Amino acid sequence: MMGQFENLLFEKDNGIGMITINRPKALNALNGATLSELDALCDQLAKDNSVKVVIVTGSGEKAFIAGADITEMQPMSAVEGRNWGKFGQAVFNKLENLPQPVIAAVNGFALGGGCELAMACDIRIASEKAKFGQPEVTLGITPGFGGTQRLPRLVGKGRAKELLYTGDMIDAAEAYRIGLVNKVVPPEELLTVAKGMAAKILSRAAVAVQLCKAAVNEGMDMDLDSGVAYEAEVFGLCFATADQKEGMTAFTEKRKANFTGK
Ligand code: CAA
Repeated sequence: MMGQFENLLFEKDNGIGMITINRPKALNALNGATLSELDALCDQLAKDNSVKVVIVTGSGEKAFIAGADITEMQPMSAVEGRNWGKFGQAVFNKLENLPQPVIAAVNGFALGGGCELAMACDIRIASEKAKFGQPEVTLGITPGFGGTQRLPRLVGKGRAKELLYTGDMIDAAEAYRIGLVNKVVPPEELLTVAKGMAAKILSRAAVAVQLCKAAVNEGMDMDLDSGVAYEAEVFGLCFATADQKEGMTAFTEKRKANFTGK
């Protein structure tokens, strides 16, 4: 059962789990309480077979997430800063490694921890109004929730270093150009497009989709030989599913597959 949260909204609809970060008075900045709630929600989602795809967005028109909460970080000691970073990293790792695909629907500012959270998602869809950046160096810190690692993996070292060293904000078109987001859509279409993509993924064989995710996530941290060996294992596993039988039978019978997720 899903609990009630103070800083998050969560709803399930036909296999889609919608998470809304909901602290509009602070532009959805991630304070400790919000991160703890997200941590608990990820634990629940990891066990919830009824949710096949997750969408994350921010409440209000202005922000996706304007970063980690600066007022909470301001008095931190070095040890507290390290622990805060480790906590945020652990939560984002959990989000990244949920069995289900996760789509970030980026509705506005995605700065610092907000950009980092979007990068921990599998797919990013941006509103034309979205803005991205890692402004940490303007505050005297480095990114702490994975930004120095996921940004270069997504956009390459040179572009990542420019964003990290300058703290510059980029708009959605530039984020698309450098490969930080998958697509850019008008603000009023953002959730419809995200839900449409989620529905398409939902119509596919769920076990195969989850194994694609595991193979990419595990494989990106391996050498190619190990990665393709991992792929052979998940590929083989698919042949133990009813959906493989159905998918291939449907093809030979020239009809649409009717997947059950089994
Ligand atoms: N933490 C805490 N509060 C925040 C916040 C944050 N990251 N971002 C915005 N807010 C608060 C503001 O303090 C303000 O609160 P009050 O109304 O009580 O004054 C409210 O949200 C609205 O913000 P603004 O008035 O600043 O709105 P704006 O339209 O003038 O500017 C903005 C919008 C450019 C996003 C600006 O708010 C901003 O620069 N925010 C900080 C962005 C940032 O530096 N993020 C990185 C944080 S560090 C980090 O995330 C570390 C990490 O890697 C883990």
